[in-house]
Amino acid sequence: MATVSDVPDEPGQPPALTALSLAEISQESKTKEQVITPFDVSGGVDEHGKAVAIDYDKLIDHFGSQRIDKSMLERFERLTGKPPHRLLRRGLVFSHRDLNLILDKYEKGIPFFLYTGRGPSSGSMHVGHSVPFEFTKFVGTPSTCTQRVTANKSNRRYLQDAFNVPLIIMLTDDEKFLHSPKLSLKDCRKFALENALDIIAIGFDPAKTFIFADTEFIYGGHGAAFGYNILEIGKKTTNNQIKGTFGFNDTYVVFFWHTTHYDVNWSVTYQVNSNNILEFAFPATQSATSFATSFPFIFGSNTKIVSKIPCLIPCAIDQDPYFRQCRDNAPRLGLVKPALIHTVFLPSLRGSESKMSASDTESSIYLSDTDNQIKKKIGKAFSGGQDTRELQEQIGGRTAVDVPFQYLTFFLESDEDLESMRERYEKGQMQSGEMKAAATKELQAYVAAFRERRKAVTTEIRDEFMRPRQLVFKSMPPEKEQVAMLEERRKVLQKELASIDGDLERLQRSGQA
Ligand code: TRP
Repeated sequence: MATVSDVPDEPGQPPALTALSLAEISQESKTKEQVITPFDVSGGVDEHGKAVAIDYDKLIDHFGSQRIDKSMLERFERLTGKPPHRLLRRGLVFSHRDLNLILDKYEKGIPFFLYTGRGPSSGSMHVGHSVPFEFTKFVGTPSTCTQRVTANKSNRRYLQDAFNVPLIIMLTDDEKFLHSPKLSLKDCRKFALENALDIIAIGFDPAKTFIFADTEFIYGGHGAAFGYNILEIGKKTTNNQIKGTFGFNDTYVVFFWHTTHYDVNWSVTYQVNSNNILEFAFPATQSATSFATSFPFIFGSNTKIVSKIPCLIPCAIDQDPYFRQCRDNAPRLGLVKPALIHTVFLPSLRGSESKMSASDTESSIYLSDTDNQIKKKIGKAFSGGQDTRELQEQIGGRTAVDVPFQYLTFFLESDEDLESMRERYEKGQMQSGEMKAAATKELQAYVAAFRERRKAVTTEIRDEFMRPRQLVFKSMPPEKEQVAMLEERRKVLQKELASIDGDLERLQRSGQA
């Protein structure tokens, strides 16, 4: 079985400078703490050197977030008018920050907006990436229209208004570029556009959803060439260079003391991890999307009102550190702290101690995989079953570590079927091959439905999703304000157009001369 360190990080992730590295060089103890950061996700290792599954309860305590309990589920159901999503029912959406405050406000008629994102580190997304997006779609899907979740072209516009709130999806191609020694800016920009097609195919409503890629929306436009150079030069500039040149300071040399034998051999290693200056700055970029004031074309230009619109961020738990620091700083700007709702990771095919990783084809089922590839991959997935049929009948299998069973908990809708499989497997009445067959069927169906929707997503549709524009939702800015903003924008563009015409005319005239 693969150990934690066999599983490569996603491209663009710096090496973990954590207790993990410390434990790796210690010979006395084989234990390693689990590591969950935006850049590194791995379960711990026990005293026998065995990889263990990610402990989400521990993570809640460690991060200081709140558990999603039964009363929260009931409240959610009351407000949305539909039964909780299977991810909620099964504790796979398990933790939150201030969700109660968002729901309090919503009940009082104060609307919020949804924000989620994706770091485009590869062209094709895997089924693990689709989990937070599926949940985001659910949060925004109207109770009366659950049957329309299986979106097709004609009904897609009805999706996503359970709360009747807008959704903003951020593609952090700058982040992936800055963090990856291997990826070029061109690669990351291409991945962002490809990923946008996949995300749209999950089934969002274009009238309520704005998708943007950082390199286009932040660094793009007229200043694009300039913006890209900022990214290129920033990626090459280390914090140490800036410190040396300008005398800025911080402390970030990490010392590791390790003794191999008592008082005989001891040594000190230190690592200077030269992150670039823009990696240091990126958390501000990811945070800024949490504030409605970043999007006047959606929320209007009245900052007094807009700065009070709260944000709810569905995300995998590894993104929490970004938003923790965002929440710490927001009140100092007079802005509302974003609320969060956390999902667990879809386990890697290799085992539940790590998540699917886009750069590790053996760990992941891609949304572009064929039925046959899915069958083969699940056939090889880590099983919690016994080695022989007889042993399985005697002892039974372990669903807690059985990857095919874990996948069923994410994708199989029926609670009864899932429970019956759990029971039969654990009692040895079901073989691991049968469990694999059940998971294969469910994932093939999920990916096939996705494939159909994906075929319908054209680049024109993507252009529309990615165009900065007024979204349609319950408390959008008054029509008068919308008209004023559009007219203002029109004036600016007209002026530019006139200048361009003038330049062209001059060139034509001088060409004739
Ligand atoms: N940093 C995230 C990633 O690498 C992308 C992201 C940006 C995101 N904003 C987000 C994810 C908000 C979830 C919610 O995947």
